[in-house]
Amino acid sequence: MDRKIRIGALISGGGSNLQAIMDACEEGMISGEIVFVGADNPAAGGLEKVRSRGIPTFVVDYGSIIKQFKKGQGKAVLPEDFDLDDVLAKQSLFAADSDPEKVRNFMMTRAVAEAKLLEAMEPHPFDLLVLAGFMRNLTPYFIDRINTVPGSLRIMNIHPALLPAFPGIDGYGDTFRYGCKIGGCTVHFVDYGEDSGPIIGQKAYEITADDTIETIRAKGFKLEWSLYPDCVRLFAEGRLQTVRMTYPLKSGKTYEGTVVKITPPPETF
Ligand code: GAR
Repeated sequence: MDRKIRIGALISGGGSNLQAIMDACEEGMISGEIVFVGADNPAAGGLEKVRSRGIPTFVVDYGSIIKQFKKGQGKAVLPEDFDLDDVLAKQSLFAADSDPEKVRNFMMTRAVAEAKLLEAMEPHPFDLLVLAGFMRNLTPYFIDRINTVPGSLRIMNIHPALLPAFPGIDGYGDTFRYGCKIGGCTVHFVDYGEDSGPIIGQKAYEITADDTIETIRAKGFKLEWSLYPDCVRLFAEGRLQTVRMTYPLKSGKTYEGTVVKITPPPETF
């Protein structure tokens, strides 16, 4: 891309990954600029970091939306273009044997919040949406409204574990408790599952006998802050291709999946 890419960001907490991406943009390592930062709660510390830089921010308070829904006021505010059957057919956040009522309520409450996110994002066109410590699962309702060009994924997430191990909310804790000897972090494109989309980049650290959850977290964060800007840079350089792959399995079945291929940098003379 010849022009700078426009990057939107969603956060829930301190925003240290967002900071790393902003710094990389300012230093010229990424040809990009942050055009908005949204949060799912008003206490997200990262909001302060960006307000002082004049970047537009907004909050969609998921907590109060979910509470309101539980009180029975929710269905009235479901977005008009929300199609529950379509979302249920596509989602892979919940297993097939999950309580259907729970799954329906999850998809509806999140769609109410996601419609507000989309509304807040509307005035700020963007090329890439980065989830930088955004601790909410996105539903197909939202994802389909961002990934409008078939085969072109544009929501990225960072996760504090070597996916596909330890998806969920506590990647470092899960890695530590399991007694892993290697931990790491992963940047991937978001699909309809939890931390399951095509992997763009990973970095690993060694875990030794004297490591604690705190030292593991410190090792991991240090890697996150270089991995995420690197992956955003590859996107900005147009070097991330998603490719559908099929492999024959010994069982006679076929494995199908989407993977990211990183193309070489253009030759310079
Ligand atoms: C980071 O460790 C990130 O990998 C993790 O939240 C932290 C946010 O820190 N994200 C997830 O666990 C997503 N499943 P930050 O707000 O300082 O960037």
